[in-house]
Amino acid sequence: MLAVPIHPADINTIQGSYGIKPSLPHVPGYDGVAEVLEVGSEVQGLQSGDWVIPRILSSGTCRTHMRASPENLIKIPSDMDKVSAATFALNPGTAYRMLHDFKSLREGDVVIQNGANSAVGQAVIQIAAAMGLQTINIVRDRPEINELKQYLSSLGATLVLTEEEVRSSTAIKEMTQPILALNCVSGRSGTEILRRLAFGGVMVTYGGMSRQPVTVPIGSLIFNEVSVRGFWMSRWNTKHSDKPERQHMLDELHKLVIQKKLKPPSHSLVPFEQFKKVFENTLSAEGKVGKKQILVFD
Ligand SMILES: NC(=O)c1ccc[n+]([C@@H]2O[C@H](COP(=O)([O-])OP(=O)(O)OC[C@H]3O[C@@H](n4cnc5c(N)ncnc54)[C@H](OP(=O)(O)O)[C@@H]3O)[C@@H](O)[C@H]2O)c1
Repeated sequence: MLAVPIHPADINTIQGSYGIKPSLPHVPGYDGVAEVLEVGSEVQGLQSGDWVIPRILSSGTCRTHMRASPENLIKIPSDMDKVSAATFALNPGTAYRMLHDFKSLREGDVVIQNGANSAVGQAVIQIAAAMGLQTINIVRDRPEINELKQYLSSLGATLVLTEEEVRSSTAIKEMTQPILALNCVSGRSGTEILRRLAFGGVMVTYGGMSRQPVTVPIGSLIFNEVSVRGFWMSRWNTKHSDKPERQHMLDELHKLVIQKKLKPPSHSLVPFEQFKKVFENTLSAEGKVGKKQILVFD
């Protein structure tokens, strides 16, 4: 392995609350990039020096070396930096699918999201900006909120507000109503972005960081005809494991990386030997870690 980002899903798997419950003992880690060191004599299409990512989840990427069947790997271009290569498929893939599969979005359309500083949220901002969309981005307040707002704006965010600012914001009222809401947090925050949707809008829930259910206002359903959907990248990847749509998405994301329109999330690199620190930071009940923890294997 070259680099492995640690995600909430890795922690949730250890906690037993994720959609995948592997048999034990199990090596954690879903994401990351590896370099091929050696290939078997009958392997075609892969050679030593190639960079690869897992084709399906449950690959157990938190390890220095692994032996894998070629059909469980996807070769990716090695013209990116190692952190981009380790982070460009899973979270940006989630952002890409949610921006393409639920509403037919046109330039100028507005997308609202909470958890906007999450790795997925940062990818949403950048991919949406590349698509010519506007984004309303909601984050939790913190002492260094101005730096965070500036950072998300530098990625292409149209508007960044704290959870508290949303209700009183005049800027949000001046914008066209969003037709797509992306819900990372759920709980009250999910309800808040749902309420903002235009007639016929769609809210896609992909995370439950608040650990609270989503309450759907009846008026939104009856009078505003909003739809409430869910998305799981893992299922999409399994369904499209070797379909052209998957390769097309990876090609598009790679293109954005090369064009410097898709940066890796704000992150800290941590040597593999300090893996405990990475898991503790990602597990932090208070959150506000602010940086994706990435294991590196130098
Ligand atoms: N459905 C899918 O296919 C899919 C794919 C990828 C990710 N996800 C999910 O998306 C979410 C984000 O993943 P990620 O890798 O982007 O995470 P990440 O970079 O680690 O970011 C975590 C985000 O959650 C927020 N957060 C943490 N604790 C919170 C709390 N108690 N209440 C409200 N917000 C809280 C953080 O905000 P603060 O800075 O304020 O703490 C931050 O915005 C996770 O739930 C993950 O499982 C789902």
